[in-house]
Amino acid sequence: MKITSDFLVIGTGIAGLSYALKVADQGTVSLITKRDIDVTATQLAQGGIATVYSDEDSFADHVRDTMIAGANLPHPDIVKLVVESGPKAIADLIDWGVHFSRNQDNQYDLTREGGHSHRRILHAKDATGREIERALVEAASKHPNITLYQYHIAVDLITESKLQKKPLAQNRCLGAYILDIKKNEVYTFGAHFTVLATGGAGKVYLYTCNPDISTGDGVAIGWRAGAAVANMEFMQFHPTTLYHPQAKSFLISESVRGEGAILRRRDGYAFMPAYHHQKDLAPRDIVARAIDNEMKKYGDDCVFLDITHKSADYIRDRFPMIYRTCLDYGIDMTKEPIPVVPAAHYLCGGLQVDKNGETCIRNLFAIGEVACTGLHGANRLASNSLLEGVVFAKLAAETSLQRCSENYPPLPAIELWDSGSATDSDEEVVVAHNWDEIRRAMWNYVGIVRSDKRLHRAMSRINLIQEEIIEYYWNFHVTSDLIELRNITTVAELIVRSALLRKESRGLHYTIDYPQTNTEQPPQDTVLSGAAN
Ligand code: SIN
Repeated sequence: MKITSDFLVIGTGIAGLSYALKVADQGTVSLITKRDIDVTATQLAQGGIATVYSDEDSFADHVRDTMIAGANLPHPDIVKLVVESGPKAIADLIDWGVHFSRNQDNQYDLTREGGHSHRRILHAKDATGREIERALVEAASKHPNITLYQYHIAVDLITESKLQKKPLAQNRCLGAYILDIKKNEVYTFGAHFTVLATGGAGKVYLYTCNPDISTGDGVAIGWRAGAAVANMEFMQFHPTTLYHPQAKSFLISESVRGEGAILRRRDGYAFMPAYHHQKDLAPRDIVARAIDNEMKKYGDDCVFLDITHKSADYIRDRFPMIYRTCLDYGIDMTKEPIPVVPAAHYLCGGLQVDKNGETCIRNLFAIGEVACTGLHGANRLASNSLLEGVVFAKLAAETSLQRCSENYPPLPAIELWDSGSATDSDEEVVVAHNWDEIRRAMWNYVGIVRSDKRLHRAMSRINLIQEEIIEYYWNFHVTSDLIELRNITTVAELIVRSALLRKESRGLHYTIDYPQTNTEQPPQDTVLSGAAN
């Protein structure tokens, strides 16, 4: 089956939905998602969205905080662009129906997180992402030009260079092959503009607070089609996810620390002042490494987050979702500290894009966590990512619409997907086993503290698994699990290759072989050109 539309948007978090809403008045949109529309990382975002809002704050301060958190690797022009676009992006969200929390004076309530010098984070209690997703899903569902395809997963992109053997320098994206997961059929989705808004890749690691869908699909399919990736070594570990045998890495928002919570060892000692002058509100890489160090030094399984000095009424009102979830696991955060550990949270690198969100393949855009725009550098400042998603969705949409208004070449004929002589696999266990092995190797060897020896160890396992995947991929029908395994393995390889290239410690990439930051040369992005190059 072949489906053609003007815009193909893969992913239904804040970036994908914002783009779809911006372009839908001008053309048809196919909106693809692997599960139900609201199963996204956006939906799980707790803390909020950063923007300069109060009179005491300034764009210059937000830019400075982003540069410092990102260990001077963020691109100053992009940081300025995103920060200065903040108030307009918030206005768009409010227009689409998002309700942010207000204080007693009916003003928007601003919270704080690590690395921010001011209160500048708009939030909806402690479930900001859920409120944003609700409003955007509602708006997109009402739009007659948007057709939603749930339980569909992208297999690969369709490009002119593959189809017509055109040189890569003139490569253009023409859409994607998409698997209908329920019917087990691959469809050809042709489109003038293809947008990867597939989110992050936390599932590359054994422990993550990301949803199950975060398998780095966009990075992997973009890379296979020839798009470059940048800064893949910078995986952010969130310092505080709930430590409980039954909890599947539930996030305890950094805004809990923003409102005064203190990290303590088992013996009650508050350790963060020994690591950084901003104490519990130091940038995330520093807090996660401090926790990792304390746990290793004292042989503890977790540390504790203590907000019991605040009134119970305040805690229940400000953090209702976290309070209820902890209580479900038998922890009353109004009376006792919460046991926490770090877990993989946010990929700061991704497909390299320009200031319009476009990759090096024409008409292929990447927006949201899948992209490396230059905003986050070596460590993302908390709550900058929802903002980046809306801002770059708008820039990508404007670029697409501008091109639409020009005399644009029609889509060439596109071949339908051919599954050749593939058969159904009789050994699904291979996929499950490899999936587990990759994630374990990444956690053990490519985590918060790295070394060349550990990275090489991870790479040799990844290479073996890749050989098996190739064999599997060509011999058996594609399934959603196989596509995701292939993608996390590609992303794991890109993370390790990039980490091996960075001969210094900077931000989230800390290696015992090169513990210092290189201050002799200007900071450099780690760029790998796409697999098709
Ligand atoms: C949090 O609420 O701690 C997560 C916010 C973010 O990662 O930006």
